[in-house]
Amino acid sequence: MKTLKKHILDIDHLDRDYIYEILEKAKNLKNNKNSEGNFSNKHICTLFYEDSTRTRLSFEKAAINLEVKFHNIELSKSSINKGESFYNTLKTIDSIGMDMIIIRHPSSGAANFAAKHTKASIVNAGDGSHAHPTQTLSDLFTIYERNIDFSSLEISIVGDFLFSRVARSTIIGFAMMGSKVNIIGPSELISNEIIRAYENLPLIKNGQITVYDEIEKPLMKSDIVMPLRIQKERFTSSFNLDFESYKKFWKIDEKLINNSNKNILIMHPGPVNEEIEISHKLVHSDKSLINLQVENGVFIRETIMRELLS
Ligand code: CP
Repeated sequence: MKTLKKHILDIDHLDRDYIYEILEKAKNLKNNKNSEGNFSNKHICTLFYEDSTRTRLSFEKAAINLEVKFHNIELSKSSINKGESFYNTLKTIDSIGMDMIIIRHPSSGAANFAAKHTKASIVNAGDGSHAHPTQTLSDLFTIYERNIDFSSLEISIVGDFLFSRVARSTIIGFAMMGSKVNIIGPSELISNEIIRAYENLPLIKNGQITVYDEIEKPLMKSDIVMPLRIQKERFTSSFNLDFESYKKFWKIDEKLINNSNKNILIMHPGPVNEEIEISHKLVHSDKSLINLQVENGVFIRETIMRELLS
């Protein structure tokens, strides 16, 4: 058995065998087969500098399932509002004493920074446009529990690769598991950093990841399509997107899906901008795994907590 490092900062510091181990443990947890362990003397806190529904609530539910002492720092009522820096906030939390801090932050690298400056285990719940490893593990689990062989899978990820924190983790995560990954979207939403994100990972083979500037062709051979949320809130004054043009060329809708692989499954990390990156009908169609991804987030996060706290 592999031992987990102290933190979960991104998917690429886990290896493939260990990811399989986490997925299997999450599956056992979902089937009520892995509930041993006493965590009632452990303290966990969330420190979210950005809004969240599914990540924060699923961590909270997972913590309650484990009977750990769970603390949520409400930003609007914290001393961050009095100007306390991120570093000093971390030092304050560390002095009070936490076994784990779950962090969401608008700056890429914030979780890595926290890992260097605290005694607690750090879980990255999304940092800037860098990484969101627990979302990727939830998405991998949603496929794994269907007994689909990752190495036979082709996934098309579509949309905003510039601002999305999910994108990089998900590209690397599926590629590490042996899937073919298509990166699809308008060039202004695909950064060179994304295209090079996997270059130094020996597990990922040449030709496993392909960038497309059109959507119909890759969707014909894809098993999964995953539109990414267009992150309007991160657009700057120097960056703007023509939404009408985006919807015309890249929105995932019934017509596009009907012309694709007929068994294609639909995933989305959420939250969804309906009728921008995907139609309302498809979100709620029987091809959609979106609610299952959310449900599975609880099992993955509980598994990770068990691993890090054990
Ligand atoms: N996918 C995701 O991170 O969703 P939340 O922002 O609701 O946590």
